[in-house]
Amino acid sequence: MTPRQTAHPNPVIIDTDPGVDDAIALLMALACPQLDVIGITTTAGNVPLARATRNTLAILQHLARTAIPVFRGAARPVRGRYAYARHVHSASGLTRRLPEPSITPSSSNAVPFLANALTARPGAITLIALGPLTNLARLLRRHPAAIRAARNIIVMGGAVAAPGNATPHAEFNFYSDPTAARQVIESGIPLTLVDLAACRQVHVSRADLAQVTTRSIAGKLAAELLSNWFAQDASRERFNLYDPLALAAAIEPAVLQTRQTTIAVDDADTTDDASRWGKCQVTADGCGPISVAGPDGVDSIRVHELMSTLLDWNRP
Ligand code: RIB
Ligand code: CA
Repeated sequence: MTPRQTAHPNPVIIDTDPGVDDAIALLMALACPQLDVIGITTTAGNVPLARATRNTLAILQHLARTAIPVFRGAARPVRGRYAYARHVHSASGLTRRLPEPSITPSSSNAVPFLANALTARPGAITLIALGPLTNLARLLRRHPAAIRAARNIIVMGGAVAAPGNATPHAEFNFYSDPTAARQVIESGIPLTLVDLAACRQVHVSRADLAQVTTRSIAGKLAAELLSNWFAQDASRERFNLYDPLALAAAIEPAVLQTRQTTIAVDDADTTDDASRWGKCQVTADGCGPISVAGPDGVDSIRVHELMSTLLDWNRP
């Protein structure tokens, strides 16, 4: 069932650190008639900024979507250094080599672009954050009214009442820049947090992938990225669809049943225990600005349907 055709696609800006799951989320967004991707901002996270930006440009060029502007963002976190995740996403950040892009990023940087775009179209643009929250924290600090002009903010990050994936306590995006995560999550700004508890409800298994056929360029690239990811390590059995779930929630919010919470995030100001940096703690359940779905709040069947439709994945 294709996403509802709408006369006026929803304008979205995607902040991303490609990264294999980021790439799949981008492929879904670019294939979705309901979304108008008006810009992509990049951040270091899975890989350094230059590589994240290069991967974003290469994906756009691969899909012949070079009119979408790309803006470079954070090379370093608000405090500390990024850990990177080359062991997960491969050294280049993508498990399938793409030709060197001939297109280049905008001369403007991510935060001024975000501020101008959100201010120019108050209440219209959905901001989808798929990497560390460094760009959003800098936007919040330098342009507090602009970030509040977003129609919706959807963040893939955090581990709410769930074990982390970067440390036992922290999810990778929040661990990569815990101070930025704390500044955004504790700012009071309403947002939907697509955390690990939710993301662990949707995955692609090695066996699932073996049955996928596709005719689309986007679907073929997504399948190759995943097939090569599994091939890199025989012990890998499932690929969690972290960023694709956040993207699906931007397309169809009903894939998540959320509750309101207030969340605190640990960083170096709250604890000297670095393994807790990025840890989420619910300080009020049932009220507050952060909407979370939790493990029982994900319509995983619909998410897979949406993903298969957008990527033209046909499963027997
Ligand atoms: O913890 C998962 C998140 O960290 C995803 O956004 C993935 O791309 C990495 O950035
Ligand atoms: Ca990411």
